[in-house]
Amino acid sequence: MSALRLISRTKLYWGLIAIFLIGVLSSPVSSKGTNIFLSYGNLLDVLRQVSITGLIATGMTAVIITGGIDLSVGSLMAICSVVCAMLLTVPGGTPAAWMAVPAVGLVALFLGAAVVRFVFANLAKSRAGSGFHGVVRLDLLRGTVMPAVAGIVLCALSLWYLLPQVEAKFGVLGVLIAAPCVGLLFGALNGVIIVGGRLQPFIVTLAMMVTALGVARLTAGQNNAVLPVYTGSNATEEFEVLRSLAFGIVPMPGLFFLGAIIIYGAVLRLTPFGRYVYAIGGNEEAARLSGIAAGRVKIATYAVSGLLAGIAAVLYVAQYRQGKPDAGAGLELDAIAAVVIGGTSLMGGRGSLAGTLCGVLIFGLLSNILQLHNINSNLQLVLKGMIIVGTVLVQERNAGELFSHLRLTERGRRPPKRPRRGGRRRKPGLETSEETRMKRRDMLGLAALTAALIATSALSPTSALAQEKKWTIGFSQVTTIEPWRAQFNKDILAEAAKHPDVNLIITDGEDKTEKQVADVENLIRQQVDALLISPKESAGLTGVVQEAIEAKIPVFVLDRNVDTKDYTQFVGGDNKLIGRAAGEYAVELLGGKGKAKGNVVEIWGGMGTEPAHDRHDGFHEFTDKEPGIKYLLDKQSGDWKQDQAYNIMATALRNNEHIDLVYGHNDPMAYGAYLAAKDAGREKEMKFIGIDGLPNEGVQLVNKGELTATFVYATPGAEGLRQAIKYLNGEKVEKEVILPTKKITKENAAEVLKENGINP
Ligand code: FRU
Repeated sequence: MSALRLISRTKLYWGLIAIFLIGVLSSPVSSKGTNIFLSYGNLLDVLRQVSITGLIATGMTAVIITGGIDLSVGSLMAICSVVCAMLLTVPGGTPAAWMAVPAVGLVALFLGAAVVRFVFANLAKSRAGSGFHGVVRLDLLRGTVMPAVAGIVLCALSLWYLLPQVEAKFGVLGVLIAAPCVGLLFGALNGVIIVGGRLQPFIVTLAMMVTALGVARLTAGQNNAVLPVYTGSNATEEFEVLRSLAFGIVPMPGLFFLGAIIIYGAVLRLTPFGRYVYAIGGNEEAARLSGIAAGRVKIATYAVSGLLAGIAAVLYVAQYRQGKPDAGAGLELDAIAAVVIGGTSLMGGRGSLAGTLCGVLIFGLLSNILQLHNINSNLQLVLKGMIIVGTVLVQERNAGELFSHLRLTERGRRPPKRPRRGGRRRKPGLETSEETRMKRRDMLGLAALTAALIATSALSPTSALAQEKKWTIGFSQVTTIEPWRAQFNKDILAEAAKHPDVNLIITDGEDKTEKQVADVENLIRQQVDALLISPKESAGLTGVVQEAIEAKIPVFVLDRNVDTKDYTQFVGGDNKLIGRAAGEYAVELLGGKGKAKGNVVEIWGGMGTEPAHDRHDGFHEFTDKEPGIKYLLDKQSGDWKQDQAYNIMATALRNNEHIDLVYGHNDPMAYGAYLAAKDAGREKEMKFIGIDGLPNEGVQLVNKGELTATFVYATPGAEGLRQAIKYLNGEKVEKEVILPTKKITKENAAEVLKENGINP
């Protein structure tokens, strides 16, 4: 085999190797002189980080090979994460139990029957001799009675095992059976609708994506609730096993992912089922005509996709210590990208799980490298996009044809000419426009890839320079798109500028728990001297904060808290106190103590965050004492976002003829509600209270009379960094630093603006 053909055949692995080499060569070096990228811990992090997407991508691969697509996997993972977390923490007949127990029973019934039938059918076939290819007919006993008995026995056994767990709480094996069964049934339903209704997989799984999200929310209750899982307290201790290192070597999620790749890979390569999957993707009609039960095979691929989403969900719950309806948001797209990068064709018929493994790893390593270089997260997205397009251009046949073209000309021959319309001969030396286009596309792909890779290795602000500074401090910010966060980052950067001996690395969690966990893991690998974190939510970030603490890194938790008190310090506002101040003022606005009257809309911040709960509790300490106050909404979360609050308010306005006061857990949400009211022409009818009090946001809104009041929630940027430096320099720091608040109304708004150098 010529070298070029070898390269062309193995091109799948070259991308992976190239990324790996770039990682090694460009890696920052720890203070002990070790290559951080290559360190065992870092590579394990990558494996763990890709495992959940990897499991989803594994199921997706077979679906795509049949020519289908599964957009519902993210939502299926969400349902299963909610089911899993609920089973682990809430005993008794919860919605999760009502869903899980019948699901397990049904799957067991079906599985028991199918296995026995399969065995009898194969026995019959082998008895009929090797020349037999037709359909075997089984008698009543072997074809129906025995399979039914086996199914019933298996069903009874599984119920016997699970029902006592409903009474207590589910254990690790219990949820590992239950959640995947729920996923499997939803997945199978996808398949049945697609096959039975002869519908496009795209539209059916899109519909399932939306439906399943609704089911996940209904199951979780309280609108978008997050179900926290803390092992040892509200879940069983053994559940922790799923976030540990198996045999002290491989992270558990990684083991599941690699196991799934190997098992499903073997099924696809070695069994008739696997051959059918490819045949259907190649030409479904032909496959059907040659006697393949195409419908059943397709249903099975969707069922497996759902099953793997269920397994991924259990690992998600273990990893992030929570189940929630938005757990899998956007996951389907990451999975599809990884599958396609791995060389599986979206047209069906072509692809492999080895490819998907490469695709998933390429993605994971790339994120890791970009993060280790502390590349601006917005730029990271651009680079990733370029790399996806580049890799796919190279992976797709185009690159192969480029190679074959080179190979043939190398031997002095030209590639075979396509028969041309009209039969005219092509002039020697002239290429068809298609070939030129193809070459151009290859070149484009390679260029994009090279540019992105060079940019990746060239942009490395941490390197040598950083090492010379005395302290490297990592700050994991949850998001940068909200005004308060932007101010927070400005404050911390301004403070850092005053300390020439400090190298501050800021990461952006992009408002996703999973991304923020990966960011913190990267900072731990970089052995930062101190870690500052403003977490997306409590439960999801607690595990990784503990990891940092175990790695002996002093941790400073800013603004939103986590569920451990083992950190070095907390810096932030007192949200209970702010909530109380808001509640007291609301009572005053509605007529005063003992006389207050009116309809109140409260828009919650993120349900999984401590500030939202504290702001709620504090507020109600005052308002609940007033019998005349009526609450119009039942726990509606706008997740701190202006647009979400607008929508909640728009509905509230439609449903309620009179609203007297809106309490938004932050200013963007209070303002979103104001805009909705204004658009309905009703803004004068009510008062709006928010929290944050940024001079260039809330205070201005109050000054303009759009918000009635806001309460200052100072960003802990400057103070947090000062405290960390103090600690690193050997001084003692207190466990908690609470930043003061201030009520801002029309009366003092202009003054506050002037104080901050803003012309009112
Ligand atoms: C920004 C923000 C602020 C809010 C804080 C609560 O992400 O939503 O508006 O006060 O987080 O943690």
